[in-house]
Amino acid sequence: MEERYTFKRHRRLRSSESMRSLVKETHLRAADFIYPLFILEGTNTKNEVPSMPGIYQITLDLLAEELADIEKLGIKSVMFFGVPNEKDEVGTGAYIETGIVQEATKRAKKHHPNLLVVADTCLCEYTSHGHCGVIHDGDVDNDASLKLLAKTAVSQAEAGADIIAPSNMMDGFVTVIRKALDDAGFTHIPIMSYAVKYASAFYGPFRDAADSTPQFGDRKTYQMDPANRLEAIREAKTDIEEGADFLIVKPALSYLDIVRDVRNIVDVPVVAYNVSGEYAMVKAASEKGWIDEQSLVMEKLLSMKRAGADLIISYFAKDVASWLQEENQ
Ligand code: PBG
Repeated sequence: MEERYTFKRHRRLRSSESMRSLVKETHLRAADFIYPLFILEGTNTKNEVPSMPGIYQITLDLLAEELADIEKLGIKSVMFFGVPNEKDEVGTGAYIETGIVQEATKRAKKHHPNLLVVADTCLCEYTSHGHCGVIHDGDVDNDASLKLLAKTAVSQAEAGADIIAPSNMMDGFVTVIRKALDDAGFTHIPIMSYAVKYASAFYGPFRDAADSTPQFGDRKTYQMDPANRLEAIREAKTDIEEGADFLIVKPALSYLDIVRDVRNIVDVPVVAYNVSGEYAMVKAASEKGWIDEQSLVMEKLLSMKRAGADLIISYFAKDVASWLQEENQ
């Protein structure tokens, strides 16, 4: 080569599986994942969610067995979503002692004390109108909703939840929930805030699974506009000031720039929520034989960690954990 040319051989570090493994920068572990579960009232029922093949709504009596499988795979945390029989204007089912998530939490902690229970603190699965708070004059009333959300968080902690994860997007929710938890003696329970949550079409399949589609309007007066990036910084900083212990960015896949922005400005763990629509798209393409599901899922989840996520909430958690187990055998 003549001297004025630069010629670098990057392929040296890609020459074999062992070499590639040596220089790998990002890793997935089963313990990085939080697995969401949909809990039904009643007994002995397991309904597959039509838009989420492989994901089921299950009744409480089937929970212990499911959790045993999850623990065996090395997953350390689960998140419960309730599918109650009864709903009302003020989401009573979210904060009563016998609520479906409270019952699931008690059972989980009794049979699987080492498995962390993350409680999703929201009203939308319990309100007849499907919004994440209470309605006054056709819109969600922020401060009135906060009182009920604080009550929900305390009842979840009383049932044994290890982490409170408020997903409602009301202003001030971290402060109000932190204070309510502290006043009730739960100073040790962390808050995993859905700090950056966009109003997204990627939640469609979840709303089937949790039966939480808004009956009028949409969530755009409380969830964020997908066009905005600076707003994510404001939301993240606010929740840190209010005392959040973890921050969630949601959805994940189309928002990896936001995951990186948030990772760069905070020093708490950042969680990416790989939401239902992201799951459904992969499953649909895979059913058609258009993609290699396992490779695609691993690539997607790895890209979330590379973007800066420390943890991932994902419906693929069990699949990934079992693939990782196979790899290590
Ligand atoms: C409740 C909540 C939603 C999701 C998680 N918690 C739905 C929503 O805000 O409409 C979506 C999760 C997913 O799509 O997987 N507020």
